[in-house]
Amino acid sequence: MNTLKQILNQQVGAALSEVSGLADCDPNVITASKPEFGDYQSNGVMSIAKKAGSNPRQLANDVVEKMTADANPLIERFEVAGPGFINIHLSDSALMQRAAEIRSDLQKLIPQTAQAEKIVVDYSSPNLAKEMHVGHLRGTIIGDCLARVLERQGHEIIRQNHVGDWGTQFGMLISYMRELSASQGDLPTQLADLESFYRAAKKRFDADSDFADTARASVVKLQGGDADHLVVWQQFIDESLKHCQAIYDKLNVTLSRKDLKAESFYNKDLKGVVEKLEQASLLSISNGARCVFLPEFTGKDGNPLPVIIQKTDGGYLYATTDLAAIQYRSIELKAERSLYVVDARQSLHFQQVFAVAREAGFSSANISLEHIAYGTMMGKDGRPFKTRSGDTIKLVDLLDEAIRRARELVAQKNPGLDETAYTEIAEKVGIAAVKYADLSKNRTSDYVFDWSTMLSFEGNTAPYLMYAYARIRSILRKRDSGLEDVQITSVSETAERNLLLKIMQLSEVVDMVARDCYPNLLCNYLYELAGLFMRFYESCPILKADAQLRDSRLALCALTASALKQGLDLLGIETLEKM
Ligand code: ARG
Repeated sequence: MNTLKQILNQQVGAALSEVSGLADCDPNVITASKPEFGDYQSNGVMSIAKKAGSNPRQLANDVVEKMTADANPLIERFEVAGPGFINIHLSDSALMQRAAEIRSDLQKLIPQTAQAEKIVVDYSSPNLAKEMHVGHLRGTIIGDCLARVLERQGHEIIRQNHVGDWGTQFGMLISYMRELSASQGDLPTQLADLESFYRAAKKRFDADSDFADTARASVVKLQGGDADHLVVWQQFIDESLKHCQAIYDKLNVTLSRKDLKAESFYNKDLKGVVEKLEQASLLSISNGARCVFLPEFTGKDGNPLPVIIQKTDGGYLYATTDLAAIQYRSIELKAERSLYVVDARQSLHFQQVFAVAREAGFSSANISLEHIAYGTMMGKDGRPFKTRSGDTIKLVDLLDEAIRRARELVAQKNPGLDETAYTEIAEKVGIAAVKYADLSKNRTSDYVFDWSTMLSFEGNTAPYLMYAYARIRSILRKRDSGLEDVQITSVSETAERNLLLKIMQLSEVVDMVARDCYPNLLCNYLYELAGLFMRFYESCPILKADAQLRDSRLALCALTASALKQGLDLLGIETLEKM
């Protein structure tokens, strides 16, 4: 099933090609920017007229005449406006027929793509030396939303959790672990709080130069494959991954152990990376290190910026591993897109490694490498979100606080529920509020983390949308059964028609998110959808209407609920039947 926008683009495009005599015309059909312009508008006529050397208004008129003569059941009427825009009004019967088709198979709300691709989504990817902190929230949930959206469209998604498990910090941690287990045993308890463990190790490292030397020697041993060091390292990594998994489960994020492709996985390929760069004559030595200089990357002073590949002591760097990872994703997995959902502060890193990869042939010509950058989560003081004392906040603590606050809120709103109900509602609402507050902002900007707005039942928030959903479900429960066979037979009220058209546009928004990777577009859509539902609910009696109209409106309610539920699901937000 194609979206309305796709159908209109095909139809208007074909007519435009025919009357202009130019092949493959793009009619640029978009959702109408104002209600008086109809349901959709075609903005492409003017540029085609320019190419064809014809009068744009005349061309628009010819297109409309041609399409009207074709007696298209989808269309109620056209208008030519301004210099050559075409306003498109869809017919009510076509809308209702399409609704019936979707009602018979709700999966059609978001149809499968005609061109399924293999897509890598690299997200979350924390460094395992420390516990996940608030800085990992954005990448984890934006990435998960994109993976869900693309997967729902029928693409083959390969999630990659590119965790940092191989850097110098692990030498320090391993040495500290070896020391402790020699003197005290019982490591798992000590590792239960990774954050304090890291701090204790760091303190020891800074205070004792013998220990620091041992730590440095440990990295070399680890990276050289020393069996004893590997065992201790693996113990640490396992413990750290358990912490991550607990967060993913709490967040309802679809990552698991099988999505892990840690930095250490690429260790075996790093020598080959250097050789390949050498063969391509891209390496030069700068201050003893092996680097690649590409002319398009220069610093403020105009001097070329290096991509450092190998340090003087032989150690490899973050970029080296990323080149190996590009090779794996492009050449071995044969992915067609590879998304990197990573902090905007790594922009230059990705521009550089993508460019080096292309230059040296680590990527094939048909992969699109995309850095999906996001900004920083700020506190109310406009600085990166921290505790009062300036420490980073553990992600698990933030999520627990969200659940605690949601519980208070629900208890206020809805006294008299039992304990299990409070717990379930608070967990879902608290997590949803945090996720939605983030996903609903344009990912490229920084945003201010604010408990009170995200937990409000008014405005563009998760509680508002979840409440709207629960409210529709409660209306539907009033009709005992048999609603499945009931169809939408009335869109004569503006509020009904607007709501139905909006429901059909879910798939168009999903298309945009899949292409441009902005989850906030889906959030805005769902907020507007809920708003249109509220308007419909206020202006159109449902249960009090006569039988046929009542059923038509209930069917519209049911379709709205499905669209909300499916949309929220793509954001990784679970709905509640009652709140
Ligand atoms: N571990 C890195 C960090 O915490 C993020 C890794 C992102 N993915 C990648 N392929 N570089 O900054």
